[in-house]
Amino acid sequence: MIQLKNITRVFEIGEKPVYALKNINLNIKSGEYISIMGTSGSGKSTLLNMIGLLDRPTEGKYFFDNQDVSSLDDNALARIRLQKIGFIFQFFHLIPRLTAMQNVEMPLMLGGTPSFSRKDKVSAILKSVGLEKRMNHRPNQLSGGERQRVAISRAIVNEPSALLADEPTGNLDSQSGKEIIHILEDLYNKGITLIIVTHDPEIGKRAIRQIKMKDGEIISPDHEHL
Ligand SMILES: Nc1ncnc2c1ncn2[C@@H]1O[C@H](COP(=O)(O)OP(=O)(O)O)[C@@H](O)[C@H]1O
Ligand SMILES: [Mg+2]
Repeated sequence: MIQLKNITRVFEIGEKPVYALKNINLNIKSGEYISIMGTSGSGKSTLLNMIGLLDRPTEGKYFFDNQDVSSLDDNALARIRLQKIGFIFQFFHLIPRLTAMQNVEMPLMLGGTPSFSRKDKVSAILKSVGLEKRMNHRPNQLSGGERQRVAISRAIVNEPSALLADEPTGNLDSQSGKEIIHILEDLYNKGITLIIVTHDPEIGKRAIRQIKMKDGEIISPDHEHL
């Protein structure tokens, strides 16, 4: 499903170029559960953004669902993201002036789903993550764990094949963090490809495949397994 071939990402700001990713080779099959760990600055977010088509390689090739996406333009990448990839972040990235319902509805609107079917779908998803009583709340009226559940709902509303999470529990207390991981693992058990970047070894070791990064490189030994 995901094939990174000799991917390098260089950031050219200031005097010295920063090699955030160095010659990464990584294959990920549909339905895998992967954690990405490593110290701060080791390139975890850059790798996840690359996998999620939010960034482009400086060098190397990327095949997503057997399509070479290295050379696609922004619109084409956005279309693939909207249909096939869900993202969640440490700080939720919800739109503050919209309700939970409206935040989750957004990707359906962008995808052209008509209004009447949007409402049913959004209600069902918010209910499935335990937010049936919070649908009309705005993000600042919700707890951190509730905000992340809205973010998960938004990420999966278009039924993506992959769900990418960048430190999804990094801003939560441990109980809310556990609940979020259980929701993500439920989605994995239903077939979604799950990739979690985390600092927390307890969370990292739950994944079926653990990838460790250091200085822009993957250092765990089995990363090229198919
Ligand atoms: N947009 C950017 N511009 C310049 N440098 C960046 C940018 N994003 C990341 N970097 C640099 O790339 C390296 C890896 O960053 P990142 O992937 O965010 O690490 P991690 O998520 O593991 O903490 C760091 O040295 C960081 O400063
Ligand atoms: Mg990061």
